Amino acid sequence: MRWHQFDDEDLAACKRVLESGTLCSINGTEVPAFEEEFKAAMNAPHALAIVNAMAGLHCAVVASGADFGDEVIVDPLVVFASLGALYHHCTPVYCDVEPDTHLMDATRLPELLTEKTRAIIVTQLWGLCADMDAINAFATEHGLLVIEDCAHAIYATYNGGYAGTLGDAGVYSFQQSKQMALGDGGMTAMKSAEHRQIMEEMTTFGTVPARLGWNYRMNELVAAVGRCSSPARASTWRSASAQRRPTTGRSRAASGWCARRTAPAARTPTTSGPPSSRASSSASAASSSSRRSPTTACPCASATSAARPTRTTASRST
Ligand SMILES: Cc1ncc(COP(=O)(O)O)c(C=O)c1O
Repeated sequence: MRWHQFDDEDLAACKRVLESGTLCSINGTEVPAFEEEFKAAMNAPHALAIVNAMAGLHCAVVASGADFGDEVIVDPLVVFASLGALYHHCTPVYCDVEPDTHLMDATRLPELLTEKTRAIIVTQLWGLCADMDAINAFATEHGLLVIEDCAHAIYATYNGGYAGTLGDAGVYSFQQSKQMALGDGGMTAMKSAEHRQIMEEMTTFGTVPARLGWNYRMNELVAAVGRCSSPARASTWRSASAQRRPTTGRSRAASGWCARRTAPAARTPTTSGPPSSRASSSASAASSSSRRSPTTACPCASATSAARPTRTTASRST
């Protein structure tokens, strides 16, 4: 089976954009519409489309107010959070991970805090969320921005909220190997309009002399195909891979976006509704052993189930 399947809806979307003659998001309609639909699907206050997740991490670090030489606490298992800090000439400071989940260990944060600490980048790996209550509480106490890297956790839930909406800013990747694959692309979600404003400036060269930016815009074609995958439009959900962690309320990503791209025969029963109802349906799914095992042939399903971290697993993600 091909990982991603495109159909007439995607072709129609591309045709629509090509016929409009506007492929750049400046004056485009697809990117703003994609942002609105994504924002609604995630229950996020604000969203900003971006050229890829690395650009999103870079912009989020800038939005944190970090300056050259400041410190950003990052996850040590994958390189991307470190790169996000280094892109802004900040120093990545490594926080150890929990031995059972390989997610950031919030109990280690106090020993890493210095006067230069400005932000924390939490990598939500394999569809699981870190202990966000503890991380957010620490960040609030010390005035730090919490950035979630959700490249591997789109639609993971934590206490009824979606990964990427739990901290101050969330970053999602639509790179070809991710659950929602658009070749390349990304989305950011944020709580504050001010942060969105800063990040938007960063995607379009910034403002001189206030803040130099980059060209990090998403293309209209990417947004148009992305809109076809939006769960607001998708008719199916795959929740079988969701596994609640009873002590924390964390659950694996339901990967709703993945469902549309898999062969219809491979799909599992559907689930829909707001995050809280999806979270409870995930809980009931977890109580059923037949539904706990992913039954689709989708690579993302096997990745999230097979890659269950153990103390001995050396994990690296791309
Ligand atoms: C955890 C994580 N964050 C960020 C990225 C970067 O994503 P993008 O290719 O969209 O820049 C990746 C890419 O694999 C990733 O695995």
